[in-house]
Amino acid sequence: MKPSLWIGTIAAAALGAQATPTASSTPPSPVRSVRNVFTFPNNTFIENIAVRSNSRLLITSMSVPTLFTLNPTLTNPTSSILYTFPNASGLAGVAEVKPDVFAVVSGIWDLYTTRAQLGSLQVWTIDLTKPTPAVKLIATIANSTIFNGLARHPSNPDLLLAADSELGAVWRVNLKTGAYGIALSSPLLAPQPGNPLGTNMGINGLKAAGAQVFFTNSGQRIFGKIPVDAQGNQAGAVVVLANSTVAGASVVYDDFALTGGDGAWIASHPSQAVRVATGGAQFVVDEPSTLFNPTAAALGRGSPAQEKTVYVTNGGRFVFTDTEVGFDLVDNGVAAVLLK
Ligand SMILES: *[C@@H]1O[C@H](CO)[C@@H](O)[C@H](O)[C@H]1NC(C)=O
Ligand SMILES: *[C@@H]1O[C@H](CO)[C@@H](O)[C@H](O)[C@H]1NC(C)=O
Ligand SMILES: *[C@@H]1O[C@H](CO)[C@@H](O)[C@H](O)[C@H]1NC(C)=O
Ligand SMILES: *[C@@H]1O[C@H](CO)[C@@H](O)[C@H](O)[C@H]1NC(C)=O
Repeated sequence: MKPSLWIGTIAAAALGAQATPTASSTPPSPVRSVRNVFTFPNNTFIENIAVRSNSRLLITSMSVPTLFTLNPTLTNPTSSILYTFPNASGLAGVAEVKPDVFAVVSGIWDLYTTRAQLGSLQVWTIDLTKPTPAVKLIATIANSTIFNGLARHPSNPDLLLAADSELGAVWRVNLKTGAYGIALSSPLLAPQPGNPLGTNMGINGLKAAGAQVFFTNSGQRIFGKIPVDAQGNQAGAVVVLANSTVAGASVVYDDFALTGGDGAWIASHPSQAVRVATGGAQFVVDEPSTLFNPTAAALGRGSPAQEKTVYVTNGGRFVFTDTEVGFDLVDNGVAAVLLK
């Protein structure tokens, strides 16, 4: 999720990568093709995605506090603004909490460190069931600097869960009362000790299903799951399901989409979408010309064709310039991985 973060691996990908799927045991490819869907203007770091039941994509950027939408079923979709949140410089996670009602996190972000100003993180809901979106502030978080992946609790409709990449914890936020606190924490959710600023991400992606939360830890390079009770407390041991070192020496997991069982599609830096099957086998799609520091993934909805499409957000790719800022972020947008 971090611009400056995996620059070394971006350069490596540009020099050496192949635009063909690779895997250690070469199972048959689950993928038909990969294409670009939409590119945002330069310097709009694209962070997260959710899909509405009517197929529309909801897209967040850490660079602007605007929730974007686009219709991926069109040949040449354009993005439009659903809502711009106040007192914030950008958005992080977005997750459906009730049919067509989404939770969104805003904050005042330092994109270099990927942390928000203490006290600036806010949790909102945006209700899209009405002709005009109805926006509600749920909570202002006093003591976290990053809410990263977001998921509604798998069985408790009142609880939103949020991944804290700094503290190595999952927070719960009560959507009715606004009460919040840490639900669970684990050394397996913490950043990798010694990782420098910009790469010091522990738990990153977060999703929930059954009686489990699933997570990626970017720094420790794992995808795993944790049983939780109805309040989001840890109810059993953390299980590691996959390790990104198996997908490739430079592959770093970011956020992901669940596919049933223990399966997932994991958006991965610098240019991968990694399919993890139940049982842990990994299939790596490496497309350096279409996938640019993928930050999140979501399955399409609304038709059988959409359900066979994995939408992957592209954080973007750095082009160094001699301007004051020193670089432009380009190719930030959304790609589609079409499945067989
Ligand atoms: C935004 O900031 C202004 C000025 O500090 C404050 O009055 C207002 O309550 C804030 N809005 C929210 C939603 O926090
Ligand atoms: C956050 O603040 C709340 C309310 O003051 C407190 O109960 C909680 O222990 C704090 N949590 C952390 C992780 O600092
Ligand atoms: C992931 O794999 C690497 C390389 O084999 C290993 O060093 C690391 O301990 C593994 N991580 C976990 C949490 O199993
Ligand atoms: C985007 O950034 C690239 C790289 O610096 C630059 O060549 C291009 O002109 C920029 N595009 C726009 C529309 O500013």
